[in-house]
Amino acid sequence: MRIFNASGCLDVLAAPEVARQLDAFVTKTVTPEPREGSPPPRIAETAHGMLNAIGLANPGRERFLAEHLPRLRELGLPLWVSVGGFCADDYAETCAQLTGIETIELNLSCPNVDEAADSAAEIVASCRRATDVPLYAKLSAAHPDVAEVSRAVAAAGADGLSLVNTLRGVALDRQLRPVLARGSGGLSGPALKLIALHAVSVCREATGLPIVGMGGIQTGRDALEFGACGARDVALGTVLFADPGAPTRVRAELVAACADAGVASPEDETGLAKSPETERKVHA
Ligand SMILES: Cc1cc2nc3c(=O)[nH]c(=O)nc-3n(C[C@H](O)[C@H](O)[C@H](O)COP(=O)(O)O)c2cc1C
Repeated sequence: MRIFNASGCLDVLAAPEVARQLDAFVTKTVTPEPREGSPPPRIAETAHGMLNAIGLANPGRERFLAEHLPRLRELGLPLWVSVGGFCADDYAETCAQLTGIETIELNLSCPNVDEAADSAAEIVASCRRATDVPLYAKLSAAHPDVAEVSRAVAAAGADGLSLVNTLRGVALDRQLRPVLARGSGGLSGPALKLIALHAVSVCREATGLPIVGMGGIQTGRDALEFGACGARDVALGTVLFADPGAPTRVRAELVAACADAGVASPEDETGLAKSPETERKVHA
């Protein structure tokens, strides 16, 4: 099981010591044009997790390719570039320009932008035509049937899935006004974990594709649970803001968590939890 950062949760050039703990670095989502993102405040800490409305702030494709990517390459880590956009062509044009990286993660699920994107499968199919680089489709659990979406992106040529993105929420201040200037934002952190485990489990069963599991992972035990539900790798997001040493700690805890659960490794078949849907059919 490899450990990555979740997209948007680590400025690796400002914190190279965190990069050294990772098996691969995932960039913040890059869009064709530069984006300033939402006005501040755009992050709120709540009792249930973090709410963010960054709004895909990023330097845009041209500057990313010319300035950021060369500096990221100097880290010597496998790179995953997260690609976003507002129509299938946006995504495909960026994919066509990305070479010499390990994987492209297609962000098909940002809750903080209003512009409607084409359907997930249509975007994946366009990107598949544009590049031979492996494509991971990043989905959110907001869709009522995420397994169906995973089947559609698999049929369109996705090589893997990243699960899950944040879920939309709102936090109120003392005077009952939304804390975030944008109003709503994406909820991340521990509140997402059980939802993410379910999404991983049903999408794994639906597609058999390799999955990067994320959503509220804080400990080695959390990471192991994602493995048991079918994730091959995991990504750490919100936890990195509070604990930049989390990748090393989670890796160490994973060993103890395996022993505690009676499995030899996270890849151990005996650790594979039955998906809740399979269980339901068995007991029906
Ligand atoms: C501040 C912040 C910024 C994020 N930016 C992105 C982004 O640019 N692209 C993306 O696909 N996901 C983004 N995410 C979502 C994370 O990659 C991850 O899917 C989500 O936070 C769930 O994991 P976690 O609970 O461990 O944080 C962002 C999350 C946070 C908290």
